[in-house]
Amino acid sequence: MGRFAASDIFDRFLPEQVTFKGDADQYAPSNIALSKYWGKRDKELNLPLNSSLSISLREWGTRTKVSYSRSGKDTLSLNGQAVDLNDPFAVKVFAFADHFRRGVPLPLSIDTTNTIPTAAGLASSASGFAALTLSLNQAFGLELSLSTLSMMARIGSGSASRSLWHGFVEWTCGEKVDGTDSYASRLDRDWPEFRIAILKVDTGPKSHPSTQGMNHTVATSPLFSSWPKQAQEDCTTIRDAIFEKDFEKLGETAEANAITMHATMMAARPGIFYLKPQSWSIIDQVQDCRRNGRSLFATMDAGANVKLIFLAEDEQFVRTTFPQAQIVQPFLPL
Ligand code: PMV
Repeated sequence: MGRFAASDIFDRFLPEQVTFKGDADQYAPSNIALSKYWGKRDKELNLPLNSSLSISLREWGTRTKVSYSRSGKDTLSLNGQAVDLNDPFAVKVFAFADHFRRGVPLPLSIDTTNTIPTAAGLASSASGFAALTLSLNQAFGLELSLSTLSMMARIGSGSASRSLWHGFVEWTCGEKVDGTDSYASRLDRDWPEFRIAILKVDTGPKSHPSTQGMNHTVATSPLFSSWPKQAQEDCTTIRDAIFEKDFEKLGETAEANAITMHATMMAARPGIFYLKPQSWSIIDQVQDCRRNGRSLFATMDAGANVKLIFLAEDEQFVRTTFPQAQIVQPFLPL
């Protein structure tokens, strides 16, 4: 069987001809992986080598409106500012929208606003592609299932497949070459005491965008071969810990998973170092807190910022120890 293209997913689930049904307005939360996605088995379809599991950041995310453009030309705004259509961000957004337009000349106005505080220094591609997918589905009256929409959001950015839900979400890696079994779903378990704190270390651009960092790690890191199996096991352990409400097991596994992912990148040739000295000193401080009896764990993504995982009983301690922390309560009703 030949290789599959991103457009095959849309050919399979969308009608041949689409029409604009009405203005759409959708929100999607950002998410932090507790066990990570790092490495693709298919670069065009964003198919991962292992499953991953995340927690959504509730009110931190992206709101995207899609309407019919009266000027007859595509327009894009980001946080209220017009974006030039040649800007790489606009090119990505409309290339994604084209999958839904299916060759029909439907000029769109896309207005996207991030609710993530700039001070948090978090990327918004996961919530951005998820909100765009939900809005395009609404604007074209497609009524696709969330599993199908997750598969489509995945084409925009892998982690976007997990941003269609609040709470704990697992992205099953799947095995099929066409990617039709690689999508996310929400775990039916709330944990109201669960807390996330974001500690911003750096807001500058990443040294390597995540796709480039992943591909370089897979191609050159001698440590990468052990990652997919370990990450798959970590994902299962974290899912079990959520259902057992075993916070120590969850935290220990999430922190070890993040450190292992960074170790694979650091061993790439040449090495990739997303973490800065300040990130390491926070990780050190977190481990110190644990030695003093606090149940506090760290996780880090493709950047220098550190995210803390803890329960409500330690919230005051975290606020005092890390005054710069921005705290999210993932299970508070919106
Ligand atoms: O979805 P991407 O291509 O931005 O990759 C996300 C990579 C990590 O954030 C490091 C891990 C993850 O699973 O979110």
